[in-house]
Amino acid sequence: MLWVIRERPKIDRIACPWLIRRFIESDAVIRYVAPDQVLFVAQQDGAIPFDIPGVELTHRGPLCSFDAFLDKYDLDDPACTRGDRPRCDTDTLQDSAQAPGCSRSHWGFAPTSVMTRSCWPRAWWSTTRCSPGVARCGTSAMDGISRSRSKTISAFTIKYEERAMNDDSRRDFLKTSAAVGMALAAGASAAAAEAPATALRLAYGYQHAPVPLPFDAKNLKGLSEKLIQSHWENNYGGAVRALNTLRGRLAAAAADANTPPFVYTGLKREQLLRTGSVVLHELYFAGLGGNGQAGSAMRSRIAASFGSYDAWEVEFRKIAQGLAGGSGWVMLGYNEALGILENHWMADHATAPAHTRPLLVLDMYEHAFHMDYGAAAARYIDAWFANLNWETVAARA
Ligand SMILES: [Fe+2]
Repeated sequence: MLWVIRERPKIDRIACPWLIRRFIESDAVIRYVAPDQVLFVAQQDGAIPFDIPGVELTHRGPLCSFDAFLDKYDLDDPACTRGDRPRCDTDTLQDSAQAPGCSRSHWGFAPTSVMTRSCWPRAWWSTTRCSPGVARCGTSAMDGISRSRSKTISAFTIKYEERAMNDDSRRDFLKTSAAVGMALAAGASAAAAEAPATALRLAYGYQHAPVPLPFDAKNLKGLSEKLIQSHWENNYGGAVRALNTLRGRLAAAAADANTPPFVYTGLKREQLLRTGSVVLHELYFAGLGGNGQAGSAMRSRIAASFGSYDAWEVEFRKIAQGLAGGSGWVMLGYNEALGILENHWMADHATAPAHTRPLLVLDMYEHAFHMDYGAAAARYIDAWFANLNWETVAARA
């Protein structure tokens, strides 16, 4: 069975995989992915997600994900239920008597993946309070664990085989992991400083996961489910796939010192366009699913910049009509430099007004309406207004 969890393993993200393979499924495969891809991988690959908000096996109040596993699988092995087992929640780790041991475990594992800046203060805090002479780990997650006999680490997958540890080997493991961790961190820093191409290649390793529709497409008024699903799957989904492909190509091009600049800038141009398409489509879909009625606060906000809400709508519709038969976007945005709301015509995905935060976008590419309305773009614009989710718009403002 495949299980999926957030990358950058720390306490719960080390303890839970150990528990799964020790007590639930000995040949389980644990996949570590970016936080925003956990649910996507779960959906696409049938994996069981854990230790992330919104799933069954995650934190509950003061209890950590490890406790959720104990509860669900009714585990009562002493290795899991010892009374002195510390809470796995790293937010409260510093309160645990076992913090020194856990911090060393964390310190040893964390550099094997990219450590977030927010992790460093906590790691530093915990580590600087530790005295090597008292470094012990009483956590059940480490009790009977499991020294790596073979460990394969890739960008997305960590697998490890296990054998029992006694107290001496556990202390040795913790000391070793701390030393290896610091060595890896130092090595990574040196490599990054010496090889910008390598750093760029790693940076382009990020893959964007499609954002699901935030509404039931059957419930929109005047925009068919078939149209919306086609738009999401083919146009938005295609942009996501193209962007992810481009990131892979950019990674390869960045790593090749012989890549001609004009080839590289061609990829950057496509990246700009696809990024714009992905982001604008996500804003577009997130702006639908409402009743089309703007609240009084938002109407007043718009009126302050346009004279009245109706004046804003007249101009917005006029710009949209001007794109009928062509393609592009219409945006209501907040210009952070000028401090005002403005409507903008956008010829394509890359025509972004400077220093402007988009609040509302209308897709005027034919794929957004032709299936339902043919060339009658005005009727599409009416339907779009009728389905606007102004609460989402207000939250962006
Ligand atoms: Fe579109």
